[in-house]
Parts: sequence; structure tokens; C-alpha cells
Amino acid sequence: MASSLNKNNVAAILKITEDLNQIHDIDSLLDRVLLSARRFSRADAGSIYLLENQVLRIHFVQNDTLIRQESGNKFLYQNQMVPVNDKSIAGYVAMTRKPLIIDDAYALDGTVPYGFNRSFDESASYRTRSLLTVPLLTGRNRLIGVMQIINSLDAAGATVPFRGEDELVVAYFANHAAGSIEKAKMTREIILRMIGIAELRDPEETGAHVNRVGAYSIEIYSQWAANHRVAESEVKKVRDFLRIAAMLHDVGKVAIPDTLLKKHGPLDHDEYLQMQRHVILGARLFKNSTSDWDDMAAEIALNHHEKWDGSGYPGRVGDITGDEWHPGPGKKGEEIPLFARIVALSDVYDALTSQRAYKECWPEEKVLGYMGEQRGKQFDPELVDVFFSIYDVIRAIQKKYVDH
Ligand SMILES: [Fe+2]
Ligand SMILES: [Fe+2]
Repeated sequence: MASSLNKNNVAAILKITEDLNQIHDIDSLLDRVLLSARRFSRADAGSIYLLENQVLRIHFVQNDTLIRQESGNKFLYQNQMVPVNDKSIAGYVAMTRKPLIIDDAYALDGTVPYGFNRSFDESASYRTRSLLTVPLLTGRNRLIGVMQIINSLDAAGATVPFRGEDELVVAYFANHAAGSIEKAKMTREIILRMIGIAELRDPEETGAHVNRVGAYSIEIYSQWAANHRVAESEVKKVRDFLRIAAMLHDVGKVAIPDTLLKKHGPLDHDEYLQMQRHVILGARLFKNSTSDWDDMAAEIALNHHEKWDGSGYPGRVGDITGDEWHPGPGKKGEEIPLFARIVALSDVYDALTSQRAYKECWPEEKVLGYMGEQRGKQFDPELVDVFFSIYDVIRAIQKKYVDH
């Protein structure tokens, strides 16, 4: 297969696969893989499905046409599952493990077993025409998912069929990227397992909760960064680390006694102080390790209960490694690191909108009223504005990661 690819393409693919190994978060990696595959084939849109318990689950969506529309981002948080069988295009490619080119998804010839599901097109007013679907196979020939590239565009921007060469390039690239995807998926799974340990002990920290907090945080950051004209390369780098670091905000709770975590009713003063220690314990977990996102994770764990008006905790603490630790006066305003301000807002919003064993969730208007009221008190006022400006994206994230 490689021999029919032109040399420039091969060099570009090798360069990208080398870069891919530097990316840690599965979503940033999928973003990059899909974008590169689309560039090679000049495609308007695409999605990546990953295999989970023998079912293909849509993990990543890109769509240039929709993203240009106001709040197009909300369409990127789909929650679609497809069985591995010949009824759908993605399922068929997973089953046969062979690339498939379709010139018009709405004009399938009657002899093929699969059909095209138009529900996404209908909800987003999009027209899928040409499709190139390739299996994602690791070096050991394990199927980890399917990549689908949608609507190849000609120089004038009109949709045209994919060519045989696109198939070669994208399939070759998909096979090289699959190994990195598998690795990043493992990192995410290890993190979710760590969170699972905390969750066994603290019923508030569920996998769905941390997934939502991670996703809200990167979306709030991205809008904030767009408002501040932060360079795209910087935004990508931050998104890569921020999601994981945000997911781990409460991991320090693994070291808090069960009797406290599971206590019903209010905590007394000493108990409350003990509970507050989770921010210090969390920050300590990341203190001595060397991976790139550790500083960010430590910063978020330490500061996610600080409040904009200075009424939060732990405040200015000197040495977080000592046994003796006392909360200082709360940090205020921009003294609280940006990423911790973002996670604080995401975490509180999610806690209010989720049902817990001991409480019902608040109705939506009450939550929004609260968020507005706390603008400049508990939360950074600018971030509250950003939050409201992307509220439809926030809702889409909520629908994607639901509590079980
Ligand atoms: Fe916390
Ligand atoms: Fe939380």
C-alpha cells in the first residue's frame, strides 16, 4: 500500500504520527488524527467511533460547515452507538475491516446490506454526501474503531466523491494513528479507574460527573481563549492537559476517611477542616511526578474550592507537604489560577444539576439564577459570562455524559 503513496504524503504522515505520540489526552489526539485525515482528503467533516464492549461509540466529531454557524459546537457532542454488523456503514466497515467509499449516502444502491442513518443530518440541517470510512487497526491487527471522513470538497467548495488515492492515504494514516489512539485510550482508562477508586469511597464523584466537568472546563476555556485571542497552538496544548487535570479535581478524597465522606447531615467544625484537606492531599499527589500536566493538575486540585470574593479555601498555604496545615485567608480574584476558577465553576454547576443520593437536582431556572447571582461573588464574573454564552454546548455535554 505504501508504495502507491507519493513520497511527500508518506513524509507528512510519519511526521504527524511522531507528533501524535506527544499528545496525551484521547480527545486531543482524536481531534488531531481526524483533522489530519481530513486535510489529506480535503473533507468538510468527519467522526471517529471507538469500539467499547463490542459496540462502536461515536467519540469525536468535526464539521467545518456547522462550526461556522453560531453554537455549532453543540453538534459535536453526539452520543451515538452503532453495533458491529452490516446494517450501518460504520458497523459494516468494522465487520469487514476494509475501507469503503460511498459517493452519495442518500443514493445507496439496493444491493448493499447497510443503510445511512439520516437522524444527525436532520437535527443539524446538514447534508452528508460523499463518505470515506476506514477501520482503525493496530499493528497487531486489533480493531479499535472506525474513522469516517465526510464530504470531500473540490477547489470551488462543492462536494465531490472521494478518490482511490484518498482511500490509500487515509487508511495508511489510520493504521499508523491507531497505536497512539490505543495508548491514549489506556491513559484515559487508568485515570477513570483512579477516579473509580475515589468514587467507591465518595458517592459524589462519579465517572459521568468528572467527564462532564472535564468537558465543560475545556469548552469554557476555549471560549475564554477565543475572547482573549490566544494562539490556536496554545489552546490545543491547554485543552489536551486541562480535561484530564479537571477530571482529577477531587482525587485527594481517596485519602479522606469513609466516616466523613459518607456522613449524612452536617459536618462539625473539625470534620469540615478534615474534609477541606482533600485539596491539599490532591495537590500533593501531583507534586513529584514529571508529566506535563502535573502542574496544572496540582493547581486545580489545590484551588478548586477558592471563591472569587475570597471566601473559599484553603487560601494561602505555605508548605503543602507538611503534616501541620492550617487554612489561610482565601485567595481572591485573579490570585486564583485561571484553570482552577474554570473548574470551580464547572464543578459547582454540575453538582447543582445532578441528582445525588441525598438530594434532588435543582430545576434549571434555579441553577441559572444561582450562577448569575454568584457572578463576582463565588465565581469569576467573566467566566460566568462565558458560561452563559456557550450554554447550549454545556447542555449538549450534559446529554452526552449521563449518570447511570
Ligand atoms: Fe473538591
Ligand atoms: Fe466534583
